[in-house]
Amino acid sequence: MARAHPRLKVLSIFGTRPEAIKMAPLVKALAAEPGIDSQICITGQHQSMLQQVLDMFELKADYTLDVMTPGQTLNTLTAALYAAIDPVLEQAQPDKVLVHGDTTSAMVAAMSAFHRRIPVAHIEAGLRTGDIHQPWPEEMNRRSIDLISDHLFTPTSESRRNVLGERLQGTSFVTGNTVIDALKMTAERIDSNRQLRVALDRQFSFLEPGRKVLLVTGHRRENFGDGFLDICQALRTLASRADIQIVYPVHLNPNVLGPVTERLGDLPNVHLIKPLDYLSFVRLMQLAHVVLTDSGGVQEEAPSLGKPVLVMRDVTERPEAVAAGTVRLVGTDPNAIVRGVCALFDDEQLWRMASRSANPYGDGKACARIVDALMGRPVDEFVAQTSLRHPEPSEAQWPSIQRRSVANLH
Ligand code: UD1
Ligand code: UDP
Repeated sequence: MARAHPRLKVLSIFGTRPEAIKMAPLVKALAAEPGIDSQICITGQHQSMLQQVLDMFELKADYTLDVMTPGQTLNTLTAALYAAIDPVLEQAQPDKVLVHGDTTSAMVAAMSAFHRRIPVAHIEAGLRTGDIHQPWPEEMNRRSIDLISDHLFTPTSESRRNVLGERLQGTSFVTGNTVIDALKMTAERIDSNRQLRVALDRQFSFLEPGRKVLLVTGHRRENFGDGFLDICQALRTLASRADIQIVYPVHLNPNVLGPVTERLGDLPNVHLIKPLDYLSFVRLMQLAHVVLTDSGGVQEEAPSLGKPVLVMRDVTERPEAVAAGTVRLVGTDPNAIVRGVCALFDDEQLWRMASRSANPYGDGKACARIVDALMGRPVDEFVAQTSLRHPEPSEAQWPSIQRRSVANLH
């Protein structure tokens, strides 16, 4: 098909907070490439949580859609996205559509482009749990997008192995995850500017110097209901320890905000705060002793900052940091969460081992590799390296330490 434009016309479509953080450095790199005419379409799946990311990275959307409704269902969201994205494709006439990850915005944008025979490039392709219900519906979204993509930008060699094993039609490249590009840019900004650090820290003036910070985030749909009640129960137990203070920026989804505020709002050393802008959240990760989360992005970022992560899921599509010993799955069972957190707070040696800085997800050059691939230039693919400052904790260390810490707790 002959191209109507001398430059490659690329339309990036995204709509939620994590997509915005992970696409921000890439759309900046696309805009800086003379051979590319880059445009951005924001679906509006998230509004306030996305706007703060655009503001921080100084991004302006070419197309802004407005699909968010309070407490939206997956089907109403999907229908609204199809109706809103198609006219944008008609008007923009892109040569390629770029989507990121596994959200409903990404899945509908990719499928809409496919229906118009526009090639799709998938950033963060190939992650798999192997269980279509976990994460739900994201595992299905990611697999569907991979199936129809021409370019599969897989962050790690493991994710590339997944797409090769499935004999998908698109061409794959190991690029590293663009979240590490975003994190490096942001952490360098914080580390190089004392005044900025002081200003950011002012937001956390409620922190008490004598207690270590347990940073919590959680929002997965498969944890709604009993899962969140169990998580709250675990946090109530942990809040009784005199050496811990919990900071929890609460996701705006009413299925999260409701139970969390109701169950934890009365505890003096549990700080429920609004979702933070990315700069402030990276600073809070730097200040944390341990991170407890069900988030995909936080699982990738915290090991890079040398913070141990306990993941409130039974399976993860990001096994690399588990293998490196900096991430451990604890599910949502309150006992397992309490034991895991106590082990890390009570055992200095375990904490040191689990906090060894590991970068299995990227080296900060993912965006440059993706631009090279889109331009048809050779790609110098990403190879992971892990710091060997401390040995990783062995599987056997966890249970014995867990037993000790349970005894300590009671
Ligand atoms: C979505 C993604 C999930 C991703 C998460 C990141 C899907 C199916 N899920 O889940 O993969 O990990 O975003 O945060 O795509 N809300 C606001 N303001 C906002 C954002 C959300 O009020 O800025 C509230 C609204 O009531 C909205 C609800 O949260 O209806 C749920 O948002 P939605 O995007 O449907 O799902 P998430 O659970 O956020
Ligand atoms: N994040 C943020 N502010 C917060 C909590 C998280 O900027 O208050 C960032 C975090 O650093 C990560 C991303 O949001 O880059 C993760 O988003 P989320 O947990 O909503 O989605 P997931 O990664 O699970 O898809």
